[in-house]
Amino acid sequence: MNAEAKFADLEVGYNIPAAIGMDEADIQTPCLVLDLDALERNVVKMGQFAKEMGVRHRVHGKMHKSVDVAKMQMELGGAIGVCCQKVSEAEAFARGGIDDVLVSNQVRDPAKIDRLARIPRLGARAICCVDDIENIVDLSAAATKHGTQIECLVEIDCGAGRCGVTTTPEVVAIAKAIDAAPGLKFAGLQAYQGAMQHMDDYNDRKAKIDIAVAMVRDAVDTLKAEGLECDIVGGGGTGSYYFEGNSGVYNELQCGSYAFMDADYGRILDKDGKRIDQGEWENALFILTSVMSHAKADKAICDAGLKAQSVDSGLPVIFGRDDVEYVKCSDEHGVIADPDGKLKVNDKLKLVPGHCDPTCNVHDWYVGVRDGKVEAIWPVTARGLAY
Ligand SMILES: Cc1ncc(COP(=O)(O)O)c(C=O)c1O
Repeated sequence: MNAEAKFADLEVGYNIPAAIGMDEADIQTPCLVLDLDALERNVVKMGQFAKEMGVRHRVHGKMHKSVDVAKMQMELGGAIGVCCQKVSEAEAFARGGIDDVLVSNQVRDPAKIDRLARIPRLGARAICCVDDIENIVDLSAAATKHGTQIECLVEIDCGAGRCGVTTTPEVVAIAKAIDAAPGLKFAGLQAYQGAMQHMDDYNDRKAKIDIAVAMVRDAVDTLKAEGLECDIVGGGGTGSYYFEGNSGVYNELQCGSYAFMDADYGRILDKDGKRIDQGEWENALFILTSVMSHAKADKAICDAGLKAQSVDSGLPVIFGRDDVEYVKCSDEHGVIADPDGKLKVNDKLKLVPGHCDPTCNVHDWYVGVRDGKVEAIWPVTARGLAY
């Protein structure tokens, strides 16, 4: 096929890096590529784990920011809905047809509270977190004004050191205030221990979650004694879901990264001391990059630099190769050590990003590939939405 025919389907002017049916080798770089088989296996597996543990799974959509991926997680993985961190992300998911959306975060700005209160009009259940009685008056006024309902979870800081209260009496006081507020519904507890997810050792992670579970259990029992039931007790991530899922206290998991995996998460160890990207989860997300220069014998320069990825959690790893190494990143360039001169210009490499969430946020498209062909092109629906 000549070059003109081969690339005729590319939407010139819209900057879409691929066309359905195209060979994987012809995808424009740098771009995000999803191995659809690996993604589906991860999604199905987590769905089975949740089912076996008898808990629901509300996938964390902040990781992929994609309505298409969320729908796949609901269809193939039995997920009940999504979490996200921003009202703007919640709007994008609700508009895309996801009907159960938790903003696993505090919403304090008056304009954002007003937007949150309108999410049910988009056809979705709207849930948010609260850690301050003063927030309740504003949430209640907005829900009443729009004739909608906002469901509220009291957030417990069970070790992450971010938002959330730290004592059961505070939880009870906020829960009672929510329960009494027009337009609001007390829906339960949010308790995500984010600080331990990336600890290498399984037993170190377990010790942290044991503390979280004890805090949450005390809150659930005390609320019950006060006549307040928790419909949702949510938390858990890729490094801990089995602890919360088997705790008998949590009933909703919120895992995100398991679906795509990344180089930083992949390094943590499972209970048998094995890296989690070597058995538990598969790498499904890659940055496809091309070699654009090999002017120096021992160095290849690729087209995926800082604008194609986040390196906050370390540099990307070149998938399936130990003879070449991504060693340096600048705005539009990546330097690859190629001591034996194995690479040549226009060779394509798959990079496993250091950190999947912020990497996805700097791309417009996911290119889904199966058996070497482009099968899906999905927008990163909530790309850049941070308000
Ligand atoms: C509130 C909340 N829940 C769950 C997660 C779990 O995500 P992951 O599975 O990527 O660790 C996160 C990630 O930061 C989070 O902020």
